[in-house]
Amino acid sequence: MQRTYIKDLKNLVGKEAIIKGWVSVRRDQGKMVFMDMRDMTGIVQCVVLPDSPAIEIAKETRTEWVLAISGVINKRPEKNIKAGVQNGDIEIEIKNIEVLNKTDTPPFEISSDTKEINEDTRLKYRYLDLRNERVQKNIRMRHKVIKLIRNNLDKENFVEVETPLLTKSTPEGARDYVVPSRLYKGEFYALPQSPQQYKQLLMTGGIEKYFQIAKCLRDEDSRGDRQPEFTQLDIEMSFAEREDVMEVNEKLLISIVETLYPNKKIQEKPFPRISYKEAMEKYKTDRPDLRKDKENPDLLAFGWVIDFPFFEKVKTSTNKQTQGEWTFTHNPFSRPIPEHMDHLMKKEKLGDIITSQYDVILNGLEIGGGSIRNHQYKALQKVFEILGYEKESIETDFGHMLQAFKLGTPPHGGIAWGLDRLVMLLQDEPNIREVIAFPKTGEGKDLMMNSPSKISEKQLKELGIKIEKKK
Ligand code: AMO
Repeated sequence: MQRTYIKDLKNLVGKEAIIKGWVSVRRDQGKMVFMDMRDMTGIVQCVVLPDSPAIEIAKETRTEWVLAISGVINKRPEKNIKAGVQNGDIEIEIKNIEVLNKTDTPPFEISSDTKEINEDTRLKYRYLDLRNERVQKNIRMRHKVIKLIRNNLDKENFVEVETPLLTKSTPEGARDYVVPSRLYKGEFYALPQSPQQYKQLLMTGGIEKYFQIAKCLRDEDSRGDRQPEFTQLDIEMSFAEREDVMEVNEKLLISIVETLYPNKKIQEKPFPRISYKEAMEKYKTDRPDLRKDKENPDLLAFGWVIDFPFFEKVKTSTNKQTQGEWTFTHNPFSRPIPEHMDHLMKKEKLGDIITSQYDVILNGLEIGGGSIRNHQYKALQKVFEILGYEKESIETDFGHMLQAFKLGTPPHGGIAWGLDRLVMLLQDEPNIREVIAFPKTGEGKDLMMNSPSKISEKQLKELGIKIEKKK
């Protein structure tokens, strides 16, 4: 007999079935044993009667054992029916139990909400935490969000393109993770803080409408809404103006909410727009929480923040890769708004130049940001000059971009969403670790894999690396 998924048992009342899964809860009542069995589709109550041939094994089993169970699906007596609960009106009368794997006593209980458990323990045994109903839902809804994104963008002729992970440093505002090269000792790849340069070069390559569910890596301190390794929905479009990019994104966000989260309400459509200046004056932040009722967890207040300043004076604390008095506020590849292009070309009124950048905010978090790019060689070069790069370092760091811009790069623009942040808000979770299958701790550790970790002398030698002992 074939395995039946637990969600389908309700259609088999009076018949026999085999289910496979884990023992979620177990109650030994002396003569009888009750077990709740769990698979990826849900939970069902099972009972082993005193005269069942499976009674001996049933007494031995413990929670989280992996079993194949065969039995008869019965309607529960009226008084035992649990309304509103999955399979609340049926139970399996077990005839046979096959133990597929025994299990040590788990370090924490999985059947109740694991949110109360010490987080380091949960992360060390993340594979157990993943079995929890709430965490499973998060991971499954994340999949549905990504699937909807892929379907919708495909319908609009976007193409998903993978870009390299072993790449070169790109200024995105954080520190790079670097990977030593064995073949070129003393040289390093950088892991991408975002696919920014590649996606722009895809526009040069005539892809015109690109997207990617992209892994991004940034060596920065973690917070509830920040991980060293996170996922973006990354988009770039050729021949697009600000309105075009905003329209595609707004439509997609609305579709995600209305299709997958029908219980949630979008506060205002089209999304309201607010200038950076107004946001700072009125809310003292560039990602204000626009919700009119903050008590209502199902209210989603999306908004666009626009008209950001392009440059700001360097603060000593910044680690942005600039070398002069001015730094960029968002992205050095952005284009000023058309009215301010002249200031850039003349390198004047730098503090007044407004960029084409747009950020999308949701309930007080920045969930995405992008801009129309500077696709002309001379204009981009001006930006690097303003940022204080020497001619030589412009050439070594960005020569490939400048070269491409001399070879028929169309006007283009794009955006990237913090996908983890969006799913976190949609799933009503307090931090992005809850919606990432294998997150790192706040201190950047993977407690399950025990990483970062030392590598062998042999590996170090091959890479030409010597570790300096701490004094
Ligand atoms: P930006 O740096 O603003 O733009 O990143 C885009 C979005 O990614 C999310 N995000 C993060 N999420 C989790 N952990 C992090 N450490 C983290 N850092 C950023 C935020 C943010 O809005 N290349 C540009 C996009 C573009 O211009 O097209 C970029 O990466 O939600």
